[in-house]
Amino acid sequence: MVKICCLGAGYVGGPTMAVIALKCPSIEVVVVDISQPRIAAWNSDTLPIYEPGLDEVVKECRGRNLFFSTDLEKHVSEADIIFVSVNTPTKTRGLGAGKAADLTYWESAARMIADVSKSDKIVVEKSTVPVKTAEAIEKILMHNSKGINFQILSNPEFLAEGTAIKDLFNPDRVLIGGRETPAGQKAIQALSDVYAHWVPQDRIIATNLWSAELSKLAANAFLAQRISSVNAMSALCEATGADVAEVAHAVGKDTRIGPKFLNASVGFGGSCFQKDILNLVYICECNGLPEVANYWKQVIKINDYQKNRFVNRVVSSMFNTVSGKKIAILGFAFKKDTGDTRETPAIDVCKGLLGDKARISIYDPQVTEDQIQRDLSLNKFEWDHPVHLQPMSPTTVKQASVVWDAYSATKDAHGICILTEWDEFRNLDFQKIFDNMQKPAFVFDGRNIVDAEKLRQIGFIVYSIGKPLDSWLKDMPAVA
Ligand code: UDX
Ligand code: UDX
Repeated sequence: MVKICCLGAGYVGGPTMAVIALKCPSIEVVVVDISQPRIAAWNSDTLPIYEPGLDEVVKECRGRNLFFSTDLEKHVSEADIIFVSVNTPTKTRGLGAGKAADLTYWESAARMIADVSKSDKIVVEKSTVPVKTAEAIEKILMHNSKGINFQILSNPEFLAEGTAIKDLFNPDRVLIGGRETPAGQKAIQALSDVYAHWVPQDRIIATNLWSAELSKLAANAFLAQRISSVNAMSALCEATGADVAEVAHAVGKDTRIGPKFLNASVGFGGSCFQKDILNLVYICECNGLPEVANYWKQVIKINDYQKNRFVNRVVSSMFNTVSGKKIAILGFAFKKDTGDTRETPAIDVCKGLLGDKARISIYDPQVTEDQIQRDLSLNKFEWDHPVHLQPMSPTTVKQASVVWDAYSATKDAHGICILTEWDEFRNLDFQKIFDNMQKPAFVFDGRNIVDAEKLRQIGFIVYSIGKPLDSWLKDMPAVA
């Protein structure tokens, strides 16, 4: 029986391994993690991450051929294939701070693998890492190998949160990078055989190691770039009276462009886009390509600009101050159908409003108060460490309260910011909300999900990203 072990029971490792176990009953899959509470949660009825369809998959295989454990060394030493999906934070200090990846966890994983291995292993890079990481890992393993043969593969993950199970069941492609030696090709084949249990052969692409690593960064950079492009257009639409949804629809009808990833928003978030682009920028700079680095940097700058622009719009339309005013924040996760808040635009928007002394009341159907308080008190880039190694927040942010439904969040509020496109926000009783708010009552829709006309009829002043402005908003221009 082939044995697979995965280091890192997070958003990537957990769902990916659960689907492998489901689709390959003949393979034993063990997911290991240094975090005892995380493993306990994977073994309980309340999984540590919220992902539609995940519960069913885990229930079907757990205890059959899917296991969760903290005994890293035992399972690593027994495995034929080891996936590594541990955190790869952005460095906060030293060389490359703010850009380069911190490979501390990856490196210690590699050293542990070298230490405990007694038989040949295929080590699969699943975390997003800078190009040439595999080479560095290979060096660590080779120099500590005691005669054991290690083959390194890069098998980047393309799943998106909220649709992880669907994406894993039916991937656009599975990319496997490896060495162009006979042993490298054999390892590619072994991993490809795992995916071939459910993925059609023509979607399994073999490349060299660096192409696979770079393809992951490139794919995320291209996706993020589309969002920054449409968000840049949204600012121009507001200035000229065009409607960004109509522009995006017309542009996306060109089959060469396509309709996806053209929704203007308050900004993109998530654990990957910004980090991957920063990695790309750093690699370009290290390779003497400042023009290319600056090109990609601009994607992040527009994203920051979009979040600032949103905060400025809120403040300027409310008579240039939100000091002491209650602002309801509907949605904190970086997108709907996930409880994940990593790099969510809500953090920057809330910090911006708090900076202007607003009182904020936050409601998100999936994010806990503890998580929100942690996010609002952490510094940039501190989030991507195992939770128990993150700095503890010394105090909670007093001006921010977290409540459990949209009606209490908006009660007595002066304004509402919609920051995540949760379906339930479309069907709220806005008349009831309006009746319980201070007047004039504002809605700032950062996801363009509410029916602005209907809300205007109720009496709200409504701002929608990239849409023609109310006369109120026109009279109170935002200063960028
Ligand atoms: C993670 C990284 O965040 C991302 O940068 C990388 O591209 C893929 O792996 P994700 O699964 O979404 O993505 O992260 P997270 O949910 O934080 O899971 C990582 C897990 O690794 C955590 O449960 C952590 O406890 C574990 N870990 C970390 C180890 O088991 N060992 C370590 O040394 C470090
Ligand atoms: C992304 C990639 O899609 C995935 O392939 C990769 O493996 C990990 O990174 P994820 O971050 O989970 O996945 O979500 P995604 O759906 O890509 O959304 C990222 C951010 O962009 C979210 O904040 C989302 O709200 C925003 N977005 C997306 C927009 O603002 N507009 C769009 O049109 C699409």
